[in-house]
Amino acid sequence: MPFDLRRYETLSGHTADFIYRKNLPEHGKSFSRAFSALPVVCSLLSHLPGIDKSTIQHVIHRVVATKTENSLESYWENRLTANWGLEGVGYYGLGRPYNTWLYRIRKLVFLRQMKSLIEDFSDLSVLDIGSGTGFYVDLWRSLGVNSVVATDITNVAVKNLQDRFPDLRCLRLDAGDKLQGDEHVARYDIVSAMDVLFHIVDDKRYRQAIQNVSQTLKPGGHLVIAENFIHGPALRATYQVSRSLSEITEMLQEAGFEIVSRAPMFALMNYPTDSNSRLLKIFWRLLTLPPKVISPLGHIVGALIYPVEALALSIIKEGPSTEMMICKKRI
Ligand SMILES: C[S@@+](CC[C@H](N)C(=O)[O-])C[C@H]1O[C@@H](n2cnc3c(N)ncnc32)[C@H](O)[C@@H]1O
Repeated sequence: MPFDLRRYETLSGHTADFIYRKNLPEHGKSFSRAFSALPVVCSLLSHLPGIDKSTIQHVIHRVVATKTENSLESYWENRLTANWGLEGVGYYGLGRPYNTWLYRIRKLVFLRQMKSLIEDFSDLSVLDIGSGTGFYVDLWRSLGVNSVVATDITNVAVKNLQDRFPDLRCLRLDAGDKLQGDEHVARYDIVSAMDVLFHIVDDKRYRQAIQNVSQTLKPGGHLVIAENFIHGPALRATYQVSRSLSEITEMLQEAGFEIVSRAPMFALMNYPTDSNSRLLKIFWRLLTLPPKVISPLGHIVGALIYPVEALALSIIKEGPSTEMMICKKRI
């Protein structure tokens, strides 16, 4: 089978990568252009007779993952510095107003799922990974948890988080690094990583991140993640890998988790990454065209689609986009 170029190009993250590249200094742009050309070169090579397609695929995957992993930190540092707020951590290119509505839906689903699982949060300690602006840190506090530790891979987020939540512990941490020391081991009742882990493009580091969260949880503790959970092969973009539900389930089980629930976070409002429906993709493009072109129109589009989205989410069990999964660490 030839190298599947489409899988590197069709992700929603592609738009974000493109916009990000436009903001890079000149030398960064040439690196980025050369880097983007790798899948194309690979695709051409894979058509030559006598070339082992799976080896090419494996090599390109490793090169892309390693190169990207090295630049991941600066990608987020630059992205969040240039656009601090809900667009920076949300869907880049759709403007702050539309992203604010996307986050309202996230809040609705998150609080509904958490309240249906746990009645009393007052004794619980939470570790939030990849906190960004601290949207979920705020939600954990609104649920009345005993403590929250906020973390992020970037200095800019950690500094802003510390300014926003002076009473909280805010740490710089790369979720894919092997856990050092035992300070965080078996310490938390809940670990959350919302829209974070799919940004770890290297599969080994992703597996390590799952192992890490397992180590930091107390036995019986909960892991809460938002991912795309693809029903098919993984979709790889430069700064995002949407892994398959089966792959993620296997890694979670290996790390000692059982899945408690999985609920759609979006029906219509976010890019339908986990859907082959052309109709749904066309609908999403039309829906997001106004805020893409004139950002303030996101207020109107968001307000109109929000009630429909909320209703759809109260009905559907499988979503075409990001989903929220809750897992329990086995005792
Ligand atoms: C899409 S944003 C989501 C932020 C926040 N969780 C939210 O939902 O609003 C991803 C965040 O994860 C951080 N991040 C990316 N890779 C990370 C890693 N390997 N370890 C820790 N944080 C990471 C980024 O800096 C960014 O703040």
